[in-house]
Amino acid sequence: MIFLCKAVDVPVGRAKRIARGRKPAVAVFEVGGVFHATADQCTHGTALLSRGKIIDGVLICPLHAGSFDLVTGAPVDPPCDEPLAVYRVELRDDGIYADVPD
Ligand code: FES
Repeated sequence: MIFLCKAVDVPVGRAKRIARGRKPAVAVFEVGGVFHATADQCTHGTALLSRGKIIDGVLICPLHAGSFDLVTGAPVDPPCDEPLAVYRVELRDDGIYADVPD
């Protein structure tokens, strides 16, 4: 597991983007007190999902409004048809850690 950020750094109702140099960025979301981490790039294009919205547990891409289940990463609405990478999250003290591949 890698450290992503402190829980207090995830803005309410928005995402925290975790840049990782040359490695793919991660988006961290908080919904109802539960933290989620996903790949930041949409599987349909180059949009950053950290700029998207979450409605009823569905992450909506800001570019073409395709969407993903925030828990499973499964595509929900077209044009998204490839699953989104989602990472198991642990909250330790006030730090958010996730199983993000290296
Ligand atoms: S880039 Fe996300 S739906 Fe097209």
